[in-house]
Amino acid sequence: MRLDSKVAVITGGGNGIGQATAVRFAEEGAAVVVADIQEAKAQETVGMVEAVGGKAVAIGVDVVDRDQNDAMAQLAVDSFGGLDIVVTAAGISHATYNSGDLEAEAKWVMERADEAEAPAQAVVDLDIEEFRKVMAVNVEGTLLGVQACLARMLDLGTGGSIITLASIAAKRPDAGPLSYVCSKSAVWMLTKKLARELASAEIRVNAIGPGFIETSMTAVFDLMPEERVAQVWEQIPMGRRGTPLDIANAALFLASDESRYFTGEILHPDGGYFTE
Ligand SMILES: NC(=O)c1ccc[n+]([C@@H]2O[C@H](COP(=O)([O-])OP(=O)(O)OC[C@H]3O[C@@H](n4cnc5c(N)ncnc54)[C@H](O)[C@@H]3O)[C@@H](O)[C@H]2O)c1
Repeated sequence: MRLDSKVAVITGGGNGIGQATAVRFAEEGAAVVVADIQEAKAQETVGMVEAVGGKAVAIGVDVVDRDQNDAMAQLAVDSFGGLDIVVTAAGISHATYNSGDLEAEAKWVMERADEAEAPAQAVVDLDIEEFRKVMAVNVEGTLLGVQACLARMLDLGTGGSIITLASIAAKRPDAGPLSYVCSKSAVWMLTKKLARELASAEIRVNAIGPGFIETSMTAVFDLMPEERVAQVWEQIPMGRRGTPLDIANAALFLASDESRYFTGEILHPDGGYFTE
């Protein structure tokens, strides 16, 4: 019970990494607020938490909305009497990404085929609204979630651990579309800055920078031509994607006191991607 009597808020908790983290935290004794723009999926996660004997509540939250983030943070205090851990796992890989919608992903892959042939022209043609959307959800959404939770954490005065979801794309420009890599690099810098600002309040802030993980977000690779995907897998010494549980276990370490001297750090569960 590494998170005994702790209270966690997890954005993007309805799918993939956020969902696995909610269940893993509950197994270790934490009560969890599961927030997601897909409220029905957040509710499914609550069912999974209860199935392992844990406690959780769901809330529909669009992370770009300040009031909804506030309601999410308040729900932790009202339901469980505290707020110790925040995981900001809500995110999108491109402007039209809708977790779980494989048809939309197939369309997106088709539209991108020409861009790979003419990358410079693709930069000229990039729609700034699409860039803004990815930055809004991934960067502003992370900051707004942290702000709302931090306000309660400071009131409570009990310290805590904040875990952001960056990516290998925070450091490698070829690890995703332009908007995505820019957003993840900003999440990583935000994490380091927050770590410095919050250390005196005994709140640690760390990032996880996963490699390719088996969630809806990488289902796109199953839709791509084999030779293109093979080039991606060749970059991973372990030769395969990781699982959401691999990331949940990293989050568990960062949430627990075992990582008490870690802040402003990024962990890369990536199958060896960065060993070059
Ligand atoms: N899967 C990977 O390979 C991988 C690698 C590196 C980083 N990440 C990051 O990990 C995080 C989780 O990704 P995942 O792979 O679990 O994807 P996922 O699509 O399975 O889960 C993302 C969740 O975020 C939710 N979400 C999206 N926009 C939201 C919004 N505006 N407000 C609230 N919730 C919203 C979705 O509904 C979904 O439940 C993301 O930030 C992603 O960028 C993923």
